[in-house]
Amino acid sequence: MQNVIPNLLTWYQQNHRKLPWRESVTPYQIWVSEIILQQTRVDQGGGYFLKFVDKFPDIFSLAAANESEILKIWQGLGYYARARNMHFAAKQIVNDFQGEFPKSYIELKKLKGVGDYTAAAIASFAFKLAHPAIDGNVKRVSARFFGIDIPINAPSFNKQALELLTQAIDFAPPDIFNQAMIEMGAMICTPQNPRCSQCPLKEECVAFKFNKTSELPVTVPKKSPMKKYIHYFFIEQDGNVAIVLRPSSGIWGGLHEFPNVEHSSLEHLPLHFLEELGLNSENIHVKKYDDYKHLLTHQTIFARCWHLSSFPNNIVLSNQLILVNSIEIRNFPMHKLMLKMLNNLNL
Ligand code: ADE
Repeated sequence: MQNVIPNLLTWYQQNHRKLPWRESVTPYQIWVSEIILQQTRVDQGGGYFLKFVDKFPDIFSLAAANESEILKIWQGLGYYARARNMHFAAKQIVNDFQGEFPKSYIELKKLKGVGDYTAAAIASFAFKLAHPAIDGNVKRVSARFFGIDIPINAPSFNKQALELLTQAIDFAPPDIFNQAMIEMGAMICTPQNPRCSQCPLKEECVAFKFNKTSELPVTVPKKSPMKKYIHYFFIEQDGNVAIVLRPSSGIWGGLHEFPNVEHSSLEHLPLHFLEELGLNSENIHVKKYDDYKHLLTHQTIFARCWHLSSFPNNIVLSNQLILVNSIEIRNFPMHKLMLKMLNNLNL
């Protein structure tokens, strides 16, 4: 790869997009941007990044925040464990590292939620250390350029790509090498119809030479997502709405939603659940319901939101049920499915 590295660096200098996190070399901002970009595309990520660093300008403000403030900023990005891990890691940095990001790859990996990719990104962008940052883009570029025909999700693929890129990165400033490889994957070496004629690596690209860009990388079909059926209850009483807080671990941990129960189908209103919530089901009136289909990475959720009105004083506040004024409900951090339901209810 050594021979084409000057082309890669020149291409990057002349063509890269000006993105908010590229204006910054603070490890904090690099870390925030990289975690956000694991969750969303660059065009949407920019807005989230700016909101995040505006609300939490440094590691101390993040460590001192309430989890729900962080989840509120993260709202809509999905995979909320990432935000909770960031909170945990911020406290680690403040407590164990005097508020300074550790300056080695090995130490960075001790931070919660920081894996190989993020540690390499911070190590190279902030500290100019020679660690290849291998995200999905860089995997695709590597599969094609080196002609690696191992399935892209296999651990042995990573091992081989890491070996080859580690040899190459020594011939370039590590931060620019990694940014350029990521940018190449996003702009030139795209999954479909790569723009090979504009590619700075084409002179040595195995896939280009053997006309194999559509065969590489090798992908294995994903398992089809699991189906889940969830009944949600929109229960209104005197302008207040009942919500619950999800436990802090697991899917949607720490987010708020309508009381709900998972079932084997969406057919019948599971009355027993309302009783479990402490509601007298005889005092509940079913007005109508709306159905939703919500896609997550590994699950497809079929949800039915029952609109229930409840007679005064029927809702007994318990540990699990929170009654909130419908005007304030959006102040609570919520997942996207819940936001869809609120939109539909004009809340
Ligand atoms: N995707 C992941 N990290 C990125 C970065 N630093 N710049 C652009 N896209 C990215």
